[in-house]
Amino acid sequence: RATAVPRFVNALPRPPRVDLTDGGARTLRLAETSQDLLGGGLGLPSTVWGFGLDAGPNGEAALPASSPGPTIVARAGRTLSLDWRNDLPYRHLFPMDEDAHWAFTGSEYTVEQHGVPSVVHVHGAHTDSASDGHPDAWYSPGGAAGPLHGGTRCTYHNSQEAAPLWYHDHTHGITGLNIYAGLLGFYLLRDEHELGLIASRRLPAEPYELELAIQDRTFRPDGLLAFPSPTPHDHEETEPPTFAGQVILVNGKAWPYLDVEPRQYRLRLLNASNARFYRLSSGGGWPFPVTAIGGDGGFLDEPHRLEEGLLLAPGERADVIADFRDAGGRTFDLTNDAPLPFPGGAPVAAPVDAVLQFRVSLPYDRSAPEPVLPASLRRRPYRILTRPARTRRLQLLETVDEHGRTQMMLGTAEEGGMLWGDPVTETPRLHTTEVWELYNTTEETHSVHLHLVQFQVLDEAPFTADRDPERGALSSIVTGERLPLSPSERGPKDTVRIRPSHVVRVKARFDKAGDYVWHCHLLPHEDAGMMRRFTVS
Ligand code: C2O
Ligand code: CU
Repeated sequence: RATAVPRFVNALPRPPRVDLTDGGARTLRLAETSQDLLGGGLGLPSTVWGFGLDAGPNGEAALPASSPGPTIVARAGRTLSLDWRNDLPYRHLFPMDEDAHWAFTGSEYTVEQHGVPSVVHVHGAHTDSASDGHPDAWYSPGGAAGPLHGGTRCTYHNSQEAAPLWYHDHTHGITGLNIYAGLLGFYLLRDEHELGLIASRRLPAEPYELELAIQDRTFRPDGLLAFPSPTPHDHEETEPPTFAGQVILVNGKAWPYLDVEPRQYRLRLLNASNARFYRLSSGGGWPFPVTAIGGDGGFLDEPHRLEEGLLLAPGERADVIADFRDAGGRTFDLTNDAPLPFPGGAPVAAPVDAVLQFRVSLPYDRSAPEPVLPASLRRRPYRILTRPARTRRLQLLETVDEHGRTQMMLGTAEEGGMLWGDPVTETPRLHTTEVWELYNTTEETHSVHLHLVQFQVLDEAPFTADRDPERGALSSIVTGERLPLSPSERGPKDTVRIRPSHVVRVKARFDKAGDYVWHCHLLPHEDAGMMRRFTVS
């Protein structure tokens, strides 16, 4: 099927931007809709779940549901109140794993009677616990609600620097299904520093700034999205097969093209795929200059010209300047050469090499100024200077359950693997800084995301350790030489890749009290046990 989907015949859609930089309150609705993801004149629209926007209190226009949802543009320091209304149907788009451990487990709720539950998390946002979209804060259109549900209205104080944040479903156990159905969108946070750089012609301004959400999907012959059926089993938590779609969507369109002028563009890239990694380049290199200027949570210390592919794990973002000034008339494919699982192992799916096509075909608009990138992007290098009150040793691990299946877990080095229902072990004291050492004892790279904070990645190193065969506790840890940090990780981050047999140290300040989570952002992992609560008090 995948080969029948034509490449580079669809213009790249741009999600509508909703300017909420003055703050205020709006309502977004999660709803089913039909969208032509495949395009190409195939006439095969897909059913998706997206976000629509209600008309605003001052006559602002409504927007129909779409996936990705509208890009919310917010302003640092200005509070925004968003009411997330769940109008999802009373059946899921995809086969649900009845035995999996998810939102409705152990309750009387059913999807047929109560509808599909959802809760929205703004990824990377410095959010109060009650508005964070905790996996237990879901609710459904038919009145079911999770133990931490506190209403549909969420408050975002935007108390952080400019950053490419994104919003998505976070329902316990079915986040992968709900995001695959389309429940995601961008949340671009602006601040004075960034607006100053744009105004002083240091960064491209709209319309030369684009957000690009990259996702992989598989389609049925009738154009509907396909997702693998759960393998039948009689046990609570197991790893679903890692799924990789065979068609790449950018902003909800299959393999699109983008017509550009011979000038610099600012691209806000998001890996919104369930499990695929992307190592982006143009045929293995960069025939046009690409400079990284930011990551998940804000600007890098300084611009960093890319020599190699740009690696993005699920959940990660990159802010780059693509320079087409010397490329008038040319065409470039943005390609991917990342295998899955990453970085190696038995391939789950054939690699998908194409992502998007840039066509430097538009006339140069002389009325729009060409920016000159600054030598440094921050007033001072990004460092969390407070002394850590404590260091935690945490791990990512796989064990085998009693049925012989892989069980993905997080845990502490000292005690081994723990599941969602186990007591909370990560309990930072309010207003303290901690260093978390994240040991990956598995054979694939994971992307670990912490809610509430932006962290500083300190370093990465290989390690060896002895493992207790029962619980997976680590002992005699020997850490090798610390590897230099890539310049593209020298900025605030909320999601970090951890390679097999490596430990990554991150430093964060925990300055809001309440319930949060940390987890792997490979959605099949997160849904199957690689998620833990943490509480700040
Ligand atoms: Cu992007 Cu806890 O998620
Ligand atoms: Cu993982």
